[in-house]
Amino acid sequence: MLRKFPVRIAILVVLGLALMTTALVMAENDDVARDAVAQDPDLPGADGAMLLDYVLNQNPYTDWGSWTADRWTDFDAFLQSGAPHGETVRIFANHIAQEGVMADGFDGTLPYGSIVVKENYGGTVEAPGELAALTIQYKVEGYNPAAGDWFWVKASGDGSVIDAEGMVEGCINCHGQDGNADYLLRYAFGEEPVVTYSDPLPAGDGAAILDYIINTSTYTEWSSFPAQGDLDFSGYLASNSPHGSSVRIFVNDRALDAIARDTFDGTLPPGSVVVKEGFEGTVDAPGEVAAITLMYKVDGFNPEANDWYWVAATADGSAVNVEGMVDGCIDCHGQDGNSDYLLAYDLPEGAMMGDEMMDDEMMEDESMDEEMMDEPALDGEALVAQRCTTCHTIDRINNANYDRAGWDSTVARMEGYGAQLDAAERAAVLDYLASR
Ligand code: HEC
Ligand code: HEC
Ligand code: HEC
Repeated sequence: MLRKFPVRIAILVVLGLALMTTALVMAENDDVARDAVAQDPDLPGADGAMLLDYVLNQNPYTDWGSWTADRWTDFDAFLQSGAPHGETVRIFANHIAQEGVMADGFDGTLPYGSIVVKENYGGTVEAPGELAALTIQYKVEGYNPAAGDWFWVKASGDGSVIDAEGMVEGCINCHGQDGNADYLLRYAFGEEPVVTYSDPLPAGDGAAILDYIINTSTYTEWSSFPAQGDLDFSGYLASNSPHGSSVRIFVNDRALDAIARDTFDGTLPPGSVVVKEGFEGTVDAPGEVAAITLMYKVDGFNPEANDWYWVAATADGSAVNVEGMVDGCIDCHGQDGNSDYLLAYDLPEGAMMGDEMMDDEMMEDESMDEEMMDEPALDGEALVAQRCTTCHTIDRINNANYDRAGWDSTVARMEGYGAQLDAAERAAVLDYLASR
């Protein structure tokens, strides 16, 4: 485009933009630095004992939290590691580091005052055992410009003994390897890290994802969603979705670990994969797999629809039918009341929020309108026609004949899939279905 302008104007434009950008970046960096000092006037000097006292007593690192989950790692947990830091680690980053990464003008170098603390354990992720050592990186302005101004510390687990501190060559050489992000090895500000443990996840690409679930981390060895009440998600499940008359659903470890965590917020972390096999046959005689559909969460891929990458493929994964931001998948899976675009399963926190919202709405309605009691009864038939046909046709319902208790449990199962009914609507639907 610029070539079409007279050269002199082009140069002026470029210079102007460059100046503006520089000014913005400088303002941004100044802000970050000023904020850091304002919020943390007591940041320690470049000294091992002072730094340990700070992270253990004055501003305990265990309160900090860690990096935001990316496609490779969910940092809110014990992580599998390897030499030289021990089998299992936990990584904490102070708010200066976390906010630095999030800042609009972030340029790939953490701001001064950033501290990253790593706990090192000898045991496994499930049973880490005692805290064996602390290793710390602390960014101090002007301390060692040749190596990113990092001050390094290695200490015993309780911080009482310092093994190494300062410009430690061993730390610098290994952490300075090619492709690192500001001397970090496990976290690369959303890019692929230099080091990953366990299977590195595939790119957002149909063929790569299929290769991964078939050859790298075989999905048939994964578990399914944990049971919810009467709903058991393991084995063959009857289905009336477009996915076949029976299905099997498999969920990878990242997704299951996240669901199991107390702090789970109802949205699966990047790296989560849900694979579904579709069958033409019944639950008892499903026959051969007819097709594979899957959802793979890739951070930043499609934020408007929770970053899911969708794939529909042949049974053996050899051919991809559709992939990416597939409108059909997104529209049906994105219907009201879903949790994180899942239809078979209500993610724990998502389910809770749904209930709360429903209660709130009902309370609002009641307080807003006392006359509600006198309102005409809800039309159960119309509700069924409207709410019960988003996933299957009305035939499915017309072919079934249950008493009220039978419909009660069927409708409860449908709500588990995502059918939307508040308490009053549910009663009207049951009245209608049981009276037909
Ligand atoms: C032989 C290579 C090697 C050496 C030497 C080494 N580290 Fe590391 N370090 C790693 C790797 C690999 C990771 C990331 C993997 C992980 O999670 O354990 C890491 C991670 C860390 C982290 C977490 C932040 C990050 O990089 O993602 C800290 C803090 C850390 N190391 C401190 C130290 C200190 C302090 C020393 C020196 C006493 C040191 N390391 C020496 C390989 C090394
Ligand atoms: C018309 C609605 C509809 C469309 C379109 C649709 N799905 Fe589904 N999908 C469902 C329903 C309903 C379920 C849960 C019940 C079941 O599996 O029988 C489901 C379940 C799934 C699951 C298991 C995880 C979950 O959500 O519970 C995956 C994976 C999946 N679909 C992938 C896809 C992909 C990929 C596409 C697009 C190629 C797609 N779906 C299109 C209705 C739909
Ligand atoms: C979000 C998707 C979805 C909605 C909405 C939905 N269903 Fe279903 N329905 C399914 C799926 C998936 C199956 C097959 C799996 C099963 O039976 O559990 C099914 C199967 C059925 C069946 C046949 C199985 C049986 O137990 O007889 C009936 C009847 C049925 N639904 C009734 C209803 C009614 C009534 C409503 C409205 C209250 C409703 N569905 C709304 C997904 C849905």
